[in-house]
Amino acid sequence: MLKVQKAGVIGAGTMGAAIAEVLAYNEIPIVLKDVNDELVSKGIQRIRSILSDLVRFNDGKADKEIARIEAEGVKLTEDQKASLRARMKSKFTSEKADELLARVKGTTSYSDFSDVDLVVEAAFENVSVKRGVFEELDKVLPDRAILGSNTSSLSITGLAKGLKHTPNTLITHFFNPPYMLPLVEIVGGADTKDEVTADVIGFLLGLKNHRSNLVPIKVKEVPGFVVNRLLIPMLNEACFSLDEGSASPRDIDAAMKSGAGMPMGPLELADMIGLDVCLDVINILNREYGDPKYRPAQTLKRKVEAGHLGRKSGKGFYDYP
Ligand SMILES: NC(=O)c1ccc[n+]([C@@H]2O[C@H](COP(=O)([O-])OP(=O)(O)OC[C@H]3O[C@@H](n4cnc5c(N)ncnc54)[C@H](O)[C@@H]3O)[C@@H](O)[C@H]2O)c1
Repeated sequence: MLKVQKAGVIGAGTMGAAIAEVLAYNEIPIVLKDVNDELVSKGIQRIRSILSDLVRFNDGKADKEIARIEAEGVKLTEDQKASLRARMKSKFTSEKADELLARVKGTTSYSDFSDVDLVVEAAFENVSVKRGVFEELDKVLPDRAILGSNTSSLSITGLAKGLKHTPNTLITHFFNPPYMLPLVEIVGGADTKDEVTADVIGFLLGLKNHRSNLVPIKVKEVPGFVVNRLLIPMLNEACFSLDEGSASPRDIDAAMKSGAGMPMGPLELADMIGLDVCLDVINILNREYGDPKYRPAQTLKRKVEAGHLGRKSGKGFYDYP
């Protein structure tokens, strides 16, 4: 059974900082690396802000419950409110948040990784950046260490080729944000040892994020793994449907929410993911599977060309003033 007494995360950006937070939330000491002090501090600041949102959310739970009860016409006494607040008092206090932060050590040096049991690499989605990180880690990691990459699209077989740690290398694909979404797709490469995959799945099964236990699943090394392979073509198909004039964006989204039980409509979701990211992924699927069913819809291409990338640019299928 894999025991992780200390873990490392490479890249203190959107995913790296949040993955570090999840690991530290499970009481694992973390070393978090980025390329300079400013980016490391930004990553730590990201974790601080995830934690203050969590504390605020938990602190507000009792008052939300009181408001819900009173909205149903029941008037609670001050004693009843106080007892509800005491019963619903959050276990995750700001002291806990401070303890968690103290478990995360920021660094710009690989030498801090000489005693970690597991590393998750979450640097840029670029093959030479990731390969460079793997080669540096290969020099300093203890032999037993497992090296996971958060890559969404690169081949782990290629990234890990010819290293001392090749048999201990695999993809650990977390979803954004990992403190809310529990899925982790686990993908071994051609030379990954089966017991390493099994150990990592066993380890992740014992962890939780802010909402639930993590849900690791084993996936073959195929483009898009499971989620992007199914989700992105569906979002692209919604764009085709829009191009054909089947319905308005709002009605397409309403249809999939009210008729297919989706919590968000496909076009809203595409705006949230980023239309450039959606286009990149569908292009990768198109190239890798060589099947025209993955060709990108015109609307998607034109929006990206215009810089209308969704929420992050203030405009996509909807406006975000
Ligand atoms: N953002 C998402 O929704 C999402 C979801 C799943 C997977 N991913 C994958 O996660 C990885 C990271 O994505 P992100 O969105 O967090 O990117 P990001 O740009 O927010 O962060 C990447 C960080 O890596 C740092 N970095 C680059 N080279 C480094 C090096 N040599 N050493 C240390 N740090 C280095 C950068 O300075 C940056 O802070 C990518 O592989 C991406 O495909 C992203």
